[in-house]
Amino acid sequence: MKECIEAIENRRSIRKFKSKQVSKSDINILLHSAQMAPSAGNLQAREFIVVSSEEGKEKLARAALKQEFLREAPVTIVVCANLKRSEMRYRARSALYAIQDATASVMNILLAAYSLGLGTCWMGAFDEKEVSSLLGLPEHVRPIALVVVGYPDEAPTAPPRLDEKIEHWEKWTSQSIDD
Ligand SMILES: Cc1cc2nc3c(=O)[nH]c(=O)nc-3n(C[C@H](O)[C@H](O)[C@H](O)COP(=O)(O)O)c2cc1C
Repeated sequence: MKECIEAIENRRSIRKFKSKQVSKSDINILLHSAQMAPSAGNLQAREFIVVSSEEGKEKLARAALKQEFLREAPVTIVVCANLKRSEMRYRARSALYAIQDATASVMNILLAAYSLGLGTCWMGAFDEKEVSSLLGLPEHVRPIALVVVGYPDEAPTAPPRLDEKIEHWEKWTSQSIDD
């Protein structure tokens, strides 16, 4: 319990990595942690693609709007939503569920990586068509997040949170900060 809260508090997005490789067994722990995340109806409408080749990472970095730090990290896990698997049971909300299945697993990867001494960054800024094409994804599989993984070479402080400004009790009680 204490360790979980500590990980939630101290995990940071890492954008500078050491050259040290991530072991296959650690990658397996991350993938297993991803799979243990909740999912709508336990359909697990998500898929994981591990990219570690120099060529693969270079192409991914280009598709991620030239966020070059992706290339520095030894591994990127591309977390995808499988829309077809969700549609087999759900209708109007199926896409939303598949996306939530995928994002819940992203969070597990980030926290499991932190516990292993690894750094991660959740990357959402990328050209979806380009990523889909270079990974050969079928139409019903959408890349949701690129999660870069490696040994951290920086220790950033936490960017500030909005705290009570976005907390509401019982119902919407005050003006939104965006109004
Ligand atoms: C949906 C989403 C998309 C993100 N996309 C990127 C991204 O493309 N590049 C990047 O460097 N960080 C990205 N981030 C990381 C955020 O910038 C980071 O989580 C935020 O600044 C808070 O910092 P922290 O993770 O250290 O607490 C993304 C995070 C989320 C949840």
